[in-house]
Amino acid sequence: MATFNAPIVLLLSLASVAIMAAGKEPTTHLHFYMHDNISNPYATAVRVAQGPRTSSAPGLYFGDIYVIDDPLTTGPSPSSPLVGRAQGFYAMASQDPADIALLLTVNLVFTEGEYKGSTLAILSRDAILSPVRELPVVGGSGKLRLARGYVLMKTYSFNQTLGDAILEWDVYVTN
Ligand SMILES: *[C@@H]1O[C@H](CO)[C@@H](O)[C@H](O)[C@H]1NC(C)=O
Ligand SMILES: *[C@@H]1O[C@H](CO)[C@@H](O)[C@H](O)[C@H]1NC(C)=O
Repeated sequence: MATFNAPIVLLLSLASVAIMAAGKEPTTHLHFYMHDNISNPYATAVRVAQGPRTSSAPGLYFGDIYVIDDPLTTGPSPSSPLVGRAQGFYAMASQDPADIALLLTVNLVFTEGEYKGSTLAILSRDAILSPVRELPVVGGSGKLRLARGYVLMKTYSFNQTLGDAILEWDVYVTN
């Protein structure tokens, strides 16, 4: 028996190394909150194009485009420490009021901590009524060069009157 065991054990350990290499787990988890204010005087999202006011979510119409420079903070309070910004745009890209979805295209620019000066690129569908949205991470720069992974994003709070939102981000990337 012993003469057969050694090669079998070796084969099994080679197989598990191959499986680990193929299904590499994300190595970095980042957690923060994004503050998307469309109301003045603290607007960080501005509407630069307006759709024809047809299919709508409250305050959002098919064709609307907003450019954003939203702060990212460690906690849900707007006064908690800043870690970066989400810079880019979102477009109201669905006509179905029961399935409201944005095209969200942003660079996350980190300004503090280990990833200060590094960025992550997000190119995603954001179905804003879903409790959890999965956003693809399509790239990165600096310490996050060649990053790939995903984000699980939740709406932490939404003010119906003002249209201001706080989004909770859990980012899982490897590079
Ligand atoms: C967003 O607006 C709210 C209410 O107007 C304000 O309390 C909050 O501080 C603003 N957030 C940021 C990050 O400026
Ligand atoms: C929305 O913001 C307004 C103005 O700051 C505030 O009076 C109201 O309580 C807020 N609503 C919610 C649900 O937070």
